[in-house]
This record gives sequence, structure tokens and C-alpha cells, in this order.
Amino acid sequence: MQTTYFKRFRMEADLARSRGPATLPAHYRFVPWNEAILDVHARTKFRAFRDEIDALVFPCLGDLEGCRRLMAEIRAKAGFLPAATWLVARGTCPSSLQWCGTIQGVMERGRVGMIQNVGVVPGHRGVGLGTCLIERVLAAFREAGLHTAALEVTADNPGAVRLYQRLGFRRTKTIYKSSDTPVATTADVPAAFALS
Ligand SMILES: CC(C)(COP(=O)(O)OP(=O)(O)OC[C@H]1O[C@@H](n2cnc3c(N)ncnc32)[C@H](O)[C@@H]1OP(=O)(O)O)[C@@H](O)C(=O)NCCC(=O)NCCS
Repeated sequence: MQTTYFKRFRMEADLARSRGPATLPAHYRFVPWNEAILDVHARTKFRAFRDEIDALVFPCLGDLEGCRRLMAEIRAKAGFLPAATWLVARGTCPSSLQWCGTIQGVMERGRVGMIQNVGVVPGHRGVGLGTCLIERVLAAFREAGLHTAALEVTADNPGAVRLYQRLGFRRTKTIYKSSDTPVATTADVPAAFALS
């Protein structure tokens, strides 16, 4: 193991900017938060993140039990916003139901809404689900009277950075996140540097 430092950006969007409503593609639907589906969020998060760079940055994202702990921590935060916490599903009958995407929102000091983790399961990407999940959360932040939306993203996640820029987020800070990672994987990560 060695300690690797991953470059991350804090990005913020002004919630006063008006945006169009988020319309999901056909056959997909939003599922609002309720306590009984905490584990569905955890499992969907795991499937969305397990093979991605953020599972190196935050090893808990590459592990189902880690995702369960993370979801429980998010749920326990004082600013947890049920109205900004959504799943996207496809299909209705139990045999064909697929959980496709997850997002959570938390209210922070200064009327800031923090997007926790947006994740779309491979196989459902590139059809607008990530865009719709974020738009849905921005609407919930606005309805809660918040002024600013914020998130953190790994610099070496260009698809996510592009998505956020398209939705009005701008970089406000650069952060380095340390993570203990296996030696073999860090050499392939350009936006990271390692200290043995
Ligand atoms: C980042 C992530 C959430 C994006 O989700 P997504 O559902 O693929 O996002 P969208 O479909 O809204 O947008 C992705 C691309 O599809 C395009 N797209 C959206 N709707 C489309 C449509 N109907 N037809 C064709 N292309 C479409 C978008 O323009 C975008 O293109 P770009 O990559 O060239 O900018 C997803 O890749 C993911 O879960 N990644 C792993 C977890 C992760 O890194 N999350 C971010 C943590 S900060």
C-alpha cells in the first residue's frame, strides 16, 4: 500500500439561475427517498462506482459494505435532505425492475446544498440520467431555499466534470485527497501522485 494524493475540484452553481425541468427518457422513473430503500441506494451506489476512479479515491465506494456504511452516514447527517435524495428505476414489475442511478443531497451552512454522490450504473449511462438526477436535486435545493449547490469531483473524471460544467457548475477550489491504494493501480492515474 502507498498513500496517493488525488486532485479534486470543488465546484459550485448558483441556484438563482433558472433551468428547465428534468425529463427522464422513456421507461425510466424517479423514486423518492424513504427509509426502507436506504439499502437500494447503497447497492446502486456500489454498482455505479465499483470500477471507477472514485473507488480508488474513496475505497468504501468499491465495496458494498462500505457503500452501506456511507449511505448510513449520509442519512445520519443533520442536513440530510430527503427531497434531494433520489433513485432512478427502469421497469415496474419485480422481475424486470432495474435500479439505474442514485443521488443524495445534504444542506450545509450558508444555504449551500451539497451533492453527495451521483452515480449511474453502466449500461444506463449516456442517455441523460446523470443530468436528470442533478437537475432534480438542484430543484429540491431551490425549493428548500438554498442559494448555492456544491460538489466535489476527481480531476481525472472528465465525463463528470463536463456534466457539471454543462449544468452551470464552476470550479471554486482545488483539493488533494489522500487515499491508501494498492501500488499497482496508482501508476495509471495521471491526476494523482504517490508517496511511498
Ligand atoms: C458521471 C455519471 C454520473 C454521468 O451519468 P450519465 O447518466 O452517463 O450522464 P448523462 O447521460 O446525463 O451525460 C453523459 C453524456 O451523455 C450525453 N447524453 C445525455 N443524454 C443523451 C442522449 N439522449 N443521447 C445521446 N447522448 C446523451 C451527454 O451529453 C453526455 O455527453 P459527454 O460525456 O460527451 O459530455 C456516470 O458516468 C457515472 O455514474 N460515473 C461513475 C460514478 C461517478 O464518477 N460519478 C461522479 C462522481 S463526482
